[in-house]
Amino acid sequence: MKKIICVLIGLLVIALNKPLLAKTGLPGLVRSGQYSKGILHSIIQPDFIQQSLDSIYNVGPYPLYTPELTPGEGREIIQGYCDLCHSVTYITMQPPLPAATWEDEVYKMINTYGALIPEDEIKKVITYLQAHYTPETRNQ
Ligand code: HEC
Repeated sequence: MKKIICVLIGLLVIALNKPLLAKTGLPGLVRSGQYSKGILHSIIQPDFIQQSLDSIYNVGPYPLYTPELTPGEGREIIQGYCDLCHSVTYITMQPPLPAATWEDEVYKMINTYGALIPEDEIKKVITYLQAHYTPETRNQ
């Protein structure tokens, strides 16, 4: 008797699941939960396109936009000293940095990369950066 009940339950489970196992209309999907092996292990590339020899290709201007540094005392000095190796975008693209980090940054440029900034100008450079590019002072 128990055996018959088990078989009946088994048949019931299969009957209830039939809609889930039915074939679907979606491409590549053979049955719910299974995917066709059709494109496994193969790379599909587009057809080769023959380009005409007299084609003219046009490329727009390369984006070299450098944002203006915030006006303020020391801006010209910064542009003179920092622009020697890289654009001042390196300053504007940083997130607002704490005052102490700007000081470290300037000394890193001097000690690690060899930036030539006279002793008496270093303070002005740091002061400018701290006055315009910290979380408290940055407004553009
Ligand atoms: C002697 C060359 C030189 C000078 C002058 C110079 N830098 Fe740099 N700077 C570098 C180099 C090299 C990097 C690293 C570039 C990279 O990683 O792509 C750098 C990177 C930076 C960065 C990105 C953060 C980092 O630490 O890598 C900032 C900010 C920066 N410089 C600020 C300044 C400021 C402000 C000045 C002027 C006071 C200045 N730099 C002057 C060489 C210089």
